Amino acid sequence: MEILIHDSPEAGAKVAARVVRKIIQTKVNPVLGLATGGTPLRMYKELIKMNHAGELSLQNCTTFNLDEYGGLPPEDKRSYHYYMMSNLFDKIDINKDNVHLPQGNANDLREACREYEKQIKDAGGIDLQVLGIGANGHIGFNEPTGSFASRTWVKILSEQTIQDNSIYFDKLEEVPRHVVTMGIATIMESRHCMLLANGAKKADAIRRMIEGPVSASCPASILQMHQRVTIVLDDEASYLLTFKDHYKWVEKNKLDWQLY
Ligand code: GLP
Repeated sequence: MEILIHDSPEAGAKVAARVVRKIIQTKVNPVLGLATGGTPLRMYKELIKMNHAGELSLQNCTTFNLDEYGGLPPEDKRSYHYYMMSNLFDKIDINKDNVHLPQGNANDLREACREYEKQIKDAGGIDLQVLGIGANGHIGFNEPTGSFASRTWVKILSEQTIQDNSIYFDKLEEVPRHVVTMGIATIMESRHCMLLANGAKKADAIRRMIEGPVSASCPASILQMHQRVTIVLDDEASYLLTFKDHYKWVEKNKLDWQLY
């Protein structure tokens, strides 16, 4: 795992945006996996800035989002469709025919999940998958103890996640119980994963992901088995790491071509 620790979420977002830019600029038809939640917002702002400054075009990009709430139509302001349109896609030069999100309100959810997997495969797989992490160690909406072999499917949220995500809804009861998410195996097939986390609330999940045993009780810990993972943290999210000084040492001694 490549672990990058920065003083502030703003500094981390800049590095994360440069990782995305590097992938986009080195591939002919880059395929990005994207995430929602509060954490990637700063990175999206950086990408929009680069796009408006003429430093980066996303015209050739195809995107696949990690997850979506069950039952919410795309125009619902709380849906991840709406989030992606308003926070990124409406503000950059991407071709919207090439953006994909799981269909949380499809008539046949199971068929929609199979189709989503097929679309990812047909696009040639994901070059870079952006991830956040839940306070319980979930990635996408893959909750603790879910199978490491899972693929895009309908899942039921844990009570903790419902509680955590209720800040985006008027009432706790409005948070959907069902979601559609890429599975852990889908995420693991991406050629490069980049996980972002900020704040002390994530510190325990970060410790378990990086330094704990690989276990389905912390779904993100499976990333220890991935061949290419970049973790971008602020100081607070990294404060429980035993080998924090080592990660900083490695970063300081990188070769020029290893930097972003
Ligand atoms: C949701 C999303 C995850 C995200 C997590 C953390 O549950 N499904 O993909 O990583 O929230 O969100 P935040 O970045 O707001 O802390």
